Amino acid sequence: MLNNRNGTLFVEDVSLNEVAQEFATPVFVYSENALRQAFLAYQDAFHQMNTLVCYAVKANGNLNILRLFADLGSGFDIVSGGELARVLQAGGSADKVIFSGVGKTAAEIEFALKAGIKCFNVESMPELTRINDIAGSLKTVAPISFRINPNIDAKTHPYISTGLKNNKFGIPFEQAIDAYRTAQRLPNVQIVGVDCHIGSQLTEVQPLIDACERVVALVDELQKIGISLSHIDLGGGVGIQYKDETLIDLGVYANAVKQIIGERHLSLILEPGRSLVGNAGVLLTQVEYVKHGEEKNFVVVDAAMNDLARPALYDAYHDIVPVCVKDIAPITADVVGQICESGDFIGKNRSLAVEQGDLLCVKSVGAYGMSMSSNYNARPRAAEVLVSGSHKKLIRRRETFADLWQAEMV
Ligand code: LLP
Repeated sequence: MLNNRNGTLFVEDVSLNEVAQEFATPVFVYSENALRQAFLAYQDAFHQMNTLVCYAVKANGNLNILRLFADLGSGFDIVSGGELARVLQAGGSADKVIFSGVGKTAAEIEFALKAGIKCFNVESMPELTRINDIAGSLKTVAPISFRINPNIDAKTHPYISTGLKNNKFGIPFEQAIDAYRTAQRLPNVQIVGVDCHIGSQLTEVQPLIDACERVVALVDELQKIGISLSHIDLGGGVGIQYKDETLIDLGVYANAVKQIIGERHLSLILEPGRSLVGNAGVLLTQVEYVKHGEEKNFVVVDAAMNDLARPALYDAYHDIVPVCVKDIAPITADVVGQICESGDFIGKNRSLAVEQGDLLCVKSVGAYGMSMSSNYNARPRAAEVLVSGSHKKLIRRRETFADLWQAEMV
């Protein structure tokens, strides 16, 4: 999606210089083609199974992106009432929505039941009770899966590893059978599946395969006691390339899952987020100052940790490249934002041939970029632009100062 034409970076057929001129900076720029290709790669790889790809809205919830995936047949993995509202607003169908998360409130459960979602991924027994009670009061039956914690080391950053015993997610594997037995006795829930999600930015396929094996073994155990499931949900987690990571081959993953499922009548749900949008987006930012410190150089840009929190939060690496190649000597510098925190950086020790006023392109920010942005330091949120071929469309306008206090009452 990013390509270099005569020393200038383009997203598809649109020059990033032009984007900055028209919409100013900082601005997120997404490639529609890259979004589409990423979705189709899942559909292709898993086409031999009855598979529903449920895009994890948390990665990037812009209505235009949700609409694009909905048009391609996507379902949605949501973790809040707000995300459900976004999906519905974008024209997604509720019957392809699955609801994950450890803390679903009564209001959220009621909203989801009334909307008619496909399934609740239940993460605790009190949550099961609450769902049953609310479904009863609405005179309906709630379709449920349990999110099982398969206790598998996903081999990723501890903050985004979710399948181990010591984190808050899911029901311990050892308690799964009891959980299903309890659910079977409740009048207002219908057991439909089993779910797991072991972590994010996974670069090895084996933990995903191990999780699938554990989940299918559980399906068999349940079958023996008369509880039959119609789907397994293997969560999200497939990593993307930020730097030099090895990538999971979706074909290898799909084949392994197909072998494990074998002849069982099970459909498959996947909840990818990052791998559908991550590499489809860049953040365009302008150099405000080049500052030569005593021990370090700093390239101060107009994007900051409120726009892209990942470096500050996880020490995450995002490649940073100038939009226009310049024939000047590169300097080694930290690329930092304007926020009053030492943790506010976009990249450290980068070699960059840049001057004041130049544009920089921060790569692979389509996932967990805009969706994790904030107004910290009273910074209006960035704009978002969607590129398709030679067309560019503003899909979220830059916030104004008035937006900052819109919800406040004086
Ligand atoms: N399903 C569930 C239940 C999840 O918790 C997540 C992500 C996904 C699906 C999507 O996972 P993905 O395919 O994107 O790996 N903010 C962090 C990532 C947090 C991921 C949380 N859960 C980051 O910027 O790296």
